[in-house]
Amino acid sequence: MNETLFSIFRNDNLEATENLSKAFESSWKSPSNIALVKYWGKKGQQLPANPSLSLTLTEAYTETSVKAIPADMKSGIKTLNKDPNHPFIPKLQTLLNWVSAEIHELSAFAFEIETRNTFPHSAGIASSASGISAFALCLLDIAYSVLNMPVDNDKFRQLASFAARIGSGSACRSVVPGYSLWGETGLVSGSSDYFAVEINSSVHPYFTGLCDAILMVSSEPKSLASTAGHSQMNIHPYSKARIAQANQNIQNVLSALQQGDIEKLSGIVENEALSLHALIMSAETGTILMAPGTVELIHQIRKARQSGLPLFFTLDAGPNVHLLYPASHSVEAGKYINENLAPLCEKNRVIFDHGGKGPERLFSGVLNLC
Ligand code: DP6
Repeated sequence: MNETLFSIFRNDNLEATENLSKAFESSWKSPSNIALVKYWGKKGQQLPANPSLSLTLTEAYTETSVKAIPADMKSGIKTLNKDPNHPFIPKLQTLLNWVSAEIHELSAFAFEIETRNTFPHSAGIASSASGISAFALCLLDIAYSVLNMPVDNDKFRQLASFAARIGSGSACRSVVPGYSLWGETGLVSGSSDYFAVEINSSVHPYFTGLCDAILMVSSEPKSLASTAGHSQMNIHPYSKARIAQANQNIQNVLSALQQGDIEKLSGIVENEALSLHALIMSAETGTILMAPGTVELIHQIRKARQSGLPLFFTLDAGPNVHLLYPASHSVEAGKYINENLAPLCEKNRVIFDHGGKGPERLFSGVLNLC
């Protein structure tokens, strides 16, 4: 597998001329994901320095609708939520340029995008993962329609994950339902640096639909953009050790998920979260993303675990805490969270989510312009 994956579009000598004067629309709902083993550091063109593993969520999603209209003057993205200068446009345009370089027909269209998130931008859930994956899915749908390609679901998903990766690395994992692995590892056949694959068939039922309660410590915008954080890893004194650690943690998480071993899983997932923050703190800029509330919540969670509740945490590159627990304990965990942890959160805010079925196509077809 290599960077010419999209060339399957060209091999069939597909004729799209008559479709270039039609308009198309596609709408998708795509969820965010939370990494259990973190992607932190890149190589090549948006390829991960190490494999990562995540859970695709359910409630935290982006709903996006893309209209492709034959371009009279200028092709490319025209508006996002009716705004021609929306700050998110450049990221989406990069993805579009990249896909259009292989599917030239897309350069004949102007794109109008409408998008909304079900969760606040800075909730500690990667809005770029859901937003970019939703856009990649819409774009591919439109490419398939323009080229009259029959949709093979597995191939379609692989291509969408491939395209989403170009926009944002973690977005490629959102295309996959449940547990998703991105990055080549000898432990999972078919795994790739270019797109994510699902690993649900090797996960113990105990971990199906794992719950994620997002404990809001702060809704302030992040002080370190992920892309800047990744590039710090290029000159980080611990980068070699990090790559070795992540590969070892992938192996251990895979076996814990397979065995239904929550003690083992908790240990590695928490180690990953703390390692991510340790890497961020020990990088050149010495950025501290945890807040006092983050540390307080971590202590409370560990105390609750000692008293028998199967809870463990992870962190994204921000101060909010993702509290994970098996679906079989959702009632008692929910009660504990509401009574003991919500009061420690900003405005008592907790977002309850869980692992889910992945993206959903809402509409795809020709758009009647009259
Ligand atoms: C800490 O996917 O946001 O959330 O590829 O530059 O867009 P770009 O980075 P991004 O990085 C996510 C980093 C992370 C860990 C993870 O989700 O694996």
